[in-house]
Amino acid sequence: MSYKVNDIRDQFPPFKNNKKEFIYMDNACTTLRPQSVIESITDYYNYHPSCHNRALHTFGKQTTEKFSEARSKISKFVNAKSANEIIFTKNTTEAINIIAKGINWQSGDCILTTDMEHNSNLLPWQFLAKEKEVNHLQFDVDVYEGSVDLSGFEKILKENKVKLVSFFHTSNVSGITLPVRKLTEIAKKYGAIVLVDCAQAMITHKVDVQDLGADFIAFSMHKSFGPSGFGILYGKSEQLELLTPMIFGGETVVDAYYDSCTFSEIPFRFEAGLQNYSGAIGSSAAIDFIEDLGQENIKAHLLELNTLLTDALAGEDRVKIIGPKDPALRPSILNFTIENLDMAEVSVILDKSHRIMVRSGVHCCHAWYHKQELKPTLRVSLSVYNTVEEIKTFIKAITPIIRFY
Ligand SMILES: Cc1ncc(COP(=O)(O)O)c(C=O)c1O
Repeated sequence: MSYKVNDIRDQFPPFKNNKKEFIYMDNACTTLRPQSVIESITDYYNYHPSCHNRALHTFGKQTTEKFSEARSKISKFVNAKSANEIIFTKNTTEAINIIAKGINWQSGDCILTTDMEHNSNLLPWQFLAKEKEVNHLQFDVDVYEGSVDLSGFEKILKENKVKLVSFFHTSNVSGITLPVRKLTEIAKKYGAIVLVDCAQAMITHKVDVQDLGADFIAFSMHKSFGPSGFGILYGKSEQLELLTPMIFGGETVVDAYYDSCTFSEIPFRFEAGLQNYSGAIGSSAAIDFIEDLGQENIKAHLLELNTLLTDALAGEDRVKIIGPKDPALRPSILNFTIENLDMAEVSVILDKSHRIMVRSGVHCCHAWYHKQELKPTLRVSLSVYNTVEEIKTFIKAITPIIRFY
């Protein structure tokens, strides 16, 4: 397929609606949404705004149908064995918390994560360790090589009672991807449950849960062209059966007395109360959009842009890239710092001077930044609609800042 970036841009309303041109490169936070996604969301409100299952009327039936179609689409997208293995959540954060709250932890159990998880995959374990007699252990990621020490990882599993291993698929800080299948294989040798945080993975990787062998994966559709506040928890059905739901209420039970209840089947026992119907329907359209483009084509496009960007910045003495030198190991992200400059100020200058939107900060990875003694950095995160011209404009804007500020 030849990649026609202008045709792709035409599908994203903000490029037409904003009078002033802008460059949006904060895609690791949230992407823009194509017209097809926006239309599918408004169709729900325009035609059948209702709830699923309980309502037997026309709107209810239409919503039920679209809602289950979305679940099937998402289950095929990740190659789950059944649509019942897909739980709708608010986001990745909620999905990870469902696991943290739902497992029957025993005293002495350990949770193993990398040392550079997003707060969403750190704080649930930190609080769990405080509430219950469980330990949170970590294995190091070499962010500059884009690698992990697999034998060190195995040693931790051999020497501790690790109940759950949880790690990112693709990093929001550096853009590197971990050897997920290999890590899962090792963790499984020691009987650990595996959870993979796929928040940053779904656009550039074909995530196949059966191939990866993970028990759980979590991701957010708003990072993948879908509606805001919509996420997914995939779980192997036998693992979901063992989890206690995090919240209780309507839809989670088939029957209730004053002092007892009978849970609904999975996944419904995890989806309490009325759901985000337009979110599910919009997510289905977002998946169509990704699949039409193809993750391999998207990755190739991002790599072309990131190579141009990296070539321009890597030669600058004051620039330090937080990640491997080779952009092929981090196609969607270039995170960097400029010696003696406040990167928050740099991001404001870029926005004011050229309407370039990039992200400064510690990217919800405070603990790792503390460990590395790193100040806030500037993250450029790319997506399908970014162009070579935009990258050239960015380089033109940042070069004098690097050289003369
Ligand atoms: C790797 C990673 N994990 C988890 C999250 C949390 O995602 P959400 O805010 O959608 O729950 C993010 C968001 O940036 C992320 O990049």
